[in-house]
Amino acid sequence: MPSPIETVAALIRDAKRIVVFTGAGISAESGIPTFRDPMTGIWAHHDPEKLETADAFRKDAALVWGWYMWRRAHVAGAVPNAAHLAIAQLARVREVTVVTQNIDDLHARAGSTDVIHLHGSLAQPKCFACHRTPAALPFENPVTSEGLRIEPPRCPRCNGKLRPGVVWFGENLPAAAWKRAVLAAKECDVLLSIGTSGVVFPAAEIPIVAHHAGACVVHINPAQVAQPSSREFCLIGRAAEHVPALVSLLGPADLPS
Ligand code: OAD
Repeated sequence: MPSPIETVAALIRDAKRIVVFTGAGISAESGIPTFRDPMTGIWAHHDPEKLETADAFRKDAALVWGWYMWRRAHVAGAVPNAAHLAIAQLARVREVTVVTQNIDDLHARAGSTDVIHLHGSLAQPKCFACHRTPAALPFENPVTSEGLRIEPPRCPRCNGKLRPGVVWFGENLPAAAWKRAVLAAKECDVLLSIGTSGVVFPAAEIPIVAHHAGACVVHINPAQVAQPSSREFCLIGRAAEHVPALVSLLGPADLPS
């Protein structure tokens, strides 16, 4: 009888197209906090209404900009972990599309090239007024302490305030990213859902779309976030433990040296 991880490795071995759907948990072992962990999560210490809405930015743009600049500096100081690296390695032998809810750049820095950011990116601010992304990003020195109020730079086109290029509460997902993600989910054979609580919609529809289209869905998470069924599997544990173990089970014949 194969173990759960061997069963999943066999699915991956037989798959042509794989979608890797990630949430904050995959970056937890790079030192970036998740959102909903009751002790260490971002929302254990911050009120999202004061920092992650357009209204919050209207009320106090310097507070919001300073907080995101600090998060950006924190991410810049983090490094991809074994899970990010294993996903990039998998893409050398299978067609892999990464669909991430994360606003960090750790998948790209690990070497993944096909990455769809459903919730935007810390690296790409946009204008609050005209919504354009400036070609040259006017960033200042890295911010090393949390809670600093920093006036946002101005848009070179219209002089509006620049805001973080992330999706805030009440905002739509970037349409092109969403369309590509749904298509990839419909076309994949296996979807690995890694480090996400799966409670934020519409992003959380991506594994459901894949499952409805006939794919096998595998959840990798220390928490039991789904009920296993004939085409749905759970590997309970940390991403940096399970994802490299899975990829190593593919064997030397599947993996380039
Ligand atoms: P959550 O904070 O909701 O969930 C993080 C998940 O990661 C939980 O299920 C944890 O059990 C799991 N986890 C923790 N450590 C892990 C590890 N080492 N390996 C694997 N999994 C681990 O974060 P998300 O699901 O990403 O949206 O949250 C979804 C969205 O909610 C975010 O993108 C954000 C927030 O609103 C926006 O900012 C638009």
